[in-house]
Amino acid sequence: MSLTFTPLHPVLAAECAGVDIGEPITARTADEIEDAMDRYAVLVFRRGTPLTTEQQLAFTKSLGELEPPYRKIQPEEGVRLDNPALSDISNLAPGDKILPRDDRKRLFAIIGNQLWHSDSSYKTIPARYSALCAHVIPPEGGDTEFADMRAAWDTLEPRLKEKVKDLVTEHSRIFSKGALGFNFTEQELKDFAPVRQPLVRIHPGSGRHSLFLSSHAGRIVGWPVPEALMLLRELTEHATQRELVYRHKWRVGDLVMWDNQATMHRVRSFDDMKYPRDLRRTTLTTGAPAIPMSKQGGARQHAEDQHSGAITTATQ
Ligand code: OGA
Ligand code: MN
Repeated sequence: MSLTFTPLHPVLAAECAGVDIGEPITARTADEIEDAMDRYAVLVFRRGTPLTTEQQLAFTKSLGELEPPYRKIQPEEGVRLDNPALSDISNLAPGDKILPRDDRKRLFAIIGNQLWHSDSSYKTIPARYSALCAHVIPPEGGDTEFADMRAAWDTLEPRLKEKVKDLVTEHSRIFSKGALGFNFTEQELKDFAPVRQPLVRIHPGSGRHSLFLSSHAGRIVGWPVPEALMLLRELTEHATQRELVYRHKWRVGDLVMWDNQATMHRVRSFDDMKYPRDLRRTTLTTGAPAIPMSKQGGARQHAEDQHSGAITTATQ
């Protein structure tokens, strides 16, 4: 059987058929999927039945190395999924109860994920692919949107390209959650110390330039803060204009995989006090800092690299 890729949008995203991702895939199939990711940046696999944890891990691992588990926000009610390699992207507590309104995990993930972001941009080693599998979806709302950051670069005015091409930004959950009014403990302020990322990346697979934006970006090195925030806002507005955004309407059993090096994403609101929404994510690492450790600056040195076999809880 051969793979087919049917575009879902003029700029990015395609539906992949002709492969059962619940079965082991060959190296050749993996290559074809990676080539398609370089082209479309978002792939949708519609299989009708959610992958088991083992299937999702096996499929993701056939495309690269998993991001190490990470823990910083402890859910008050404990961890719902047993495998730390799987991120729980749900509004559920253990026992599948809907999280209460003021639950910190809810506010971090369900509310926080409504901000445009690139997964793990607040880590020195940012994420490569994220693969999200739908187990339970609400009857309305909760779509996920993807913006093409290569098209964002391509369509940027030349004067802005010139202005941003060598800039370095600082990313932290302090900036993204802080914009939503979160307060942090002293320990969290240390744990979430900003990391540096280039504002423009060249994609290793496609060779295309892309803007590296994320709601976690909150500073530009060497710039006054208001000017930095205004430029980041201007670029984000440009990058997320409707023409450059694919909106995914979920069906149970969909697996959507996106390249964090080429896209930003966000979930749209849904009535999360009423409806359960259960998606599970595996994440591949880019394997190396986008800015070398020696150029990360002081704050980061001691907090790095938080991956101590702990459990992933609230994730973006
Ligand atoms: C994620 C994420 C959005 C969603 O899994 O990284 O941001 O639609 N999810 O749940
Ligand atoms: Mn995310």
